[in-house]
Amino acid sequence: MLHHLPQDFVWGVATAAYQIEGAVDVDGRSPSIWDTFGRVPGAIANGDTGDVACDHYHRWSSDLGLVRELGVDAYRFSVAWPRVIPTGTGAVNPKGLAFYDRLVDELLGAGIRPFVTLYHWDLPQVLQDKGGWPARHTAEAFADYAGAVAGALGDRVTDWTTVNEPLCVAWIGHLEGTMAPGLRDLHRAIDASHHVLLGHGLATQAIRAAAGARANVGIVVNPSPAEPATDRPEDAAAALRADGHTNRWWLDPLYGRGYPRDMVETYGYEPPVLDGDLETIATPTDYLGVNYYFRAVVADDPSGPAPYAKQVEVPGRHTAMGWEVSPGGLTGILTRIAADYAPARIYVTEQGSAWPDVVEPDGSIADQDRIDYLEQHLVAIDAALEAGVPLSGYFVWSLLDNLEWAYGYDKRFGLVHVDYATQRRTMKASGRRYAEIVREYRAAR
Ligand code: NOJ
Repeated sequence: MLHHLPQDFVWGVATAAYQIEGAVDVDGRSPSIWDTFGRVPGAIANGDTGDVACDHYHRWSSDLGLVRELGVDAYRFSVAWPRVIPTGTGAVNPKGLAFYDRLVDELLGAGIRPFVTLYHWDLPQVLQDKGGWPARHTAEAFADYAGAVAGALGDRVTDWTTVNEPLCVAWIGHLEGTMAPGLRDLHRAIDASHHVLLGHGLATQAIRAAAGARANVGIVVNPSPAEPATDRPEDAAAALRADGHTNRWWLDPLYGRGYPRDMVETYGYEPPVLDGDLETIATPTDYLGVNYYFRAVVADDPSGPAPYAKQVEVPGRHTAMGWEVSPGGLTGILTRIAADYAPARIYVTEQGSAWPDVVEPDGSIADQDRIDYLEQHLVAIDAALEAGVPLSGYFVWSLLDNLEWAYGYDKRFGLVHVDYATQRRTMKASGRRYAEIVREYRAAR
């Protein structure tokens, strides 16, 4: 199955703070925008919240035992800004930082490489109250926070991600409104997109200043190929706009090309760029992280919202999220990014699937769908490597079943099942299969 993987390929699993930690008011953590959003009736399915989640804040050590059991090289997790700097800017909360300090030490002790994400969507609510990402000072506050974490952990952590999926922060949080902070305003969304990218550039510089040359810094994007639903010229134009909205709006400025003009025209609004911002955003990075879940097949949708392209249903297999299983799209987007932007290296920082898992009477979970999905996507990355994509690693989303944002706990992505009533963890068949794939790869190299 895997013929083109480099010798030092990194195998990992990923999580994010708000989705697993719980303990939202413990040890000085302040509320984040997701705590606020979760209290809006109907915002999260079934009235779920992150209050307890997987209780990982208390169970972190045994959860790392599961990472060890999988035998992976790396664990990607995120740091919760409202734990570390509860006031958004200013003083660091030592107890909040100590949690991640212990986590890092235990990982390193087990020979597992920590990949630390600094922003996986849990903005301190105090900063939202001062304007959130649409306000420029949030980018500066983010860089200060990033520098503080890198200063504390940078003697041991080498792999840093500034922002996870800026598209979701700006477009889903501020335009579609189905993620925190739940706004539906194109202009505020564009302001947010610019300040998230600016925050990434400033944070990249702050991490390097604090942690030195050993720091590998990157950003994680979630691109997907956008294909026209028919051969009508309107749909071809819609696919180009969808590509601009999903892919080029982020990658063009990150790789020094500024914002795509066709999209500025589509939006009818200029991002609030000040002198020097585009240079800051294009600060060279050490790698690009790619999260991939599906391709998009789109049709013209003049009644909006921007980018006036709507996703259409296609036949074939779909996950519990309703997402088409489209491994070819992963090969396609990786080869396209390598050709168009030439990042030094790429990690697939997330890849995984939700299915209606069934717990058998003996407690086991035979999640063959997730195994098939995993294997098909590994074939797709092998094809990308064969085509010359500089792919350095692959992380499964996710270690544990967790809070799937607005979809709540029903959508399960874990290699490990979580029984939320008892917090019992059970390795699924997919977890065992992943461990076996990693073992086989090691034995063969
Ligand atoms: C991407 C996000 O980074 C992660 O938080 C989310 O759970 C997965 N996609 C699945 O939707």
